[in-house]
Amino acid sequence: MKDLTADPKTLDPIELASRDEISSLQLQRMKWSVRHAYNNVPFYKQKFDSVGVHPDHLVGLEDIKKFPLTTKQDLRNNYPFGMFAVPRSEVSRVHASSGTTGKPTVVGYTKNDLDVWAKVMARSMRASGTKKGDLVHIAYGYGLFTGGLGAHYGAEELGCTVVPVSGGMTARQVTLIEDFKPSTIMVTPSYVLNILDEFRKNGLDPRECSLDVGIFGAEPWTNAMRREIEDAFDMHAVDIYGLSEVMGPGVANECVETKDGLHIWEDHFYPEIVDPSSGNSLPDGESGELLFTSLTKEAFPIIRYRTRDLTTLRPGTARSMRRMDKVTGRSDDMIILRGVNVFPTQIEEQILSVKGLAPHFQLELTRVKRLDQMTVHVESLGGHSDTDLSSLLTSKIKDTVGISAKVEIKKTGEVPRSEGKAVRILDNRVER
Ligand code: DLL
Repeated sequence: MKDLTADPKTLDPIELASRDEISSLQLQRMKWSVRHAYNNVPFYKQKFDSVGVHPDHLVGLEDIKKFPLTTKQDLRNNYPFGMFAVPRSEVSRVHASSGTTGKPTVVGYTKNDLDVWAKVMARSMRASGTKKGDLVHIAYGYGLFTGGLGAHYGAEELGCTVVPVSGGMTARQVTLIEDFKPSTIMVTPSYVLNILDEFRKNGLDPRECSLDVGIFGAEPWTNAMRREIEDAFDMHAVDIYGLSEVMGPGVANECVETKDGLHIWEDHFYPEIVDPSSGNSLPDGESGELLFTSLTKEAFPIIRYRTRDLTTLRPGTARSMRRMDKVTGRSDDMIILRGVNVFPTQIEEQILSVKGLAPHFQLELTRVKRLDQMTVHVESLGGHSDTDLSSLLTSKIKDTVGISAKVEIKKTGEVPRSEGKAVRILDNRVER
């Protein structure tokens, strides 16, 4: 794999600034953001007033802890535009979550917000190893989802040639990679596995293709998956994180030279960790739920937003800004099986450690006689007996995760493929 480390001269000076400089910029921006939310969004005024806090109480960064948390439900209650802090006519674009679990959450951006977003996305891509002049294949979905357009404007900002493919039509994705020869691909990790299968189906060696780096996010994925993808394509696989409520992709990104967690672009997004059950603050180094306060957003300021993503904050390495560990999972995706907490990423790790299994999987939950059971649906690559594969995976899951799961070995193509975010959990828990 190529050395893609960015030339320090091409970085934004704040990426290498001292912690003092970063904190003082954060404080100045946080004071503005909290006041902006309070003065312009009735929801925040009411919420702050109800617990007796006021923007004047924010004297140091730590004072943010006095302010109430914001949840997805709060956004839903203010559907569609109630959380906007500027008149609708000043909003240049809206995005929205898919809304599969209720009303979608709608977010908005002013012209200036879109500019900041493009800049943090460009910064993320630079950290990943993409450079001005590179050809970038974007297979994140375009539309209300922030992935496609977020990546698109970031790539343009960096000065790349953009191929806006969007998700789907997998055969065409391979043709375009073969013909246009991009050096960067931006896509969900589960969809790149689908693209990988297509390469092989066509008798093409993915290691021979033009890709040097893949920028993967929008769903949890493990370091075991990173190794799988890097090996298959002979390219770097770098993690990008973000969420629509906070901006979209480009809130945090790994650096290609270290791949040791994601640097949070703290000059625009202030992170905290809380205990997911009590909401109490936890210090850096402890694992919990990630919160964000936006520091510069005009149309849609967000204060102490509960992401439901579980991670740990760590000091900076390749950049001065703090890192977050790869997200283990969302608190909503945590499966509790006879008292043991399980995340799909833990099962992913075990699947990838068994030679002869493909990386596609789904977890089905059922309930038999009031007891929850989990079946792992996973495909064989051929060449091993299904019984051997199944008993090996069952015992690995038992030994490492501590649960007794059923394993069903399927044939190639039997586990549904993703074209965007993978659906990992099938909840069929009706009493039988
Ligand atoms: O998924 C934004 C995005 C697009 C990020 C493309 C990266 C690349 P939402 O649809 O609002 O936005 O979903 C946000 O996806 O709260 C996490 O649960 C999950 N997620 C996003 N990135 C990662 C990641 C986009 N790198 C939700 N690792 C977040 C783990 C991720 N989970």
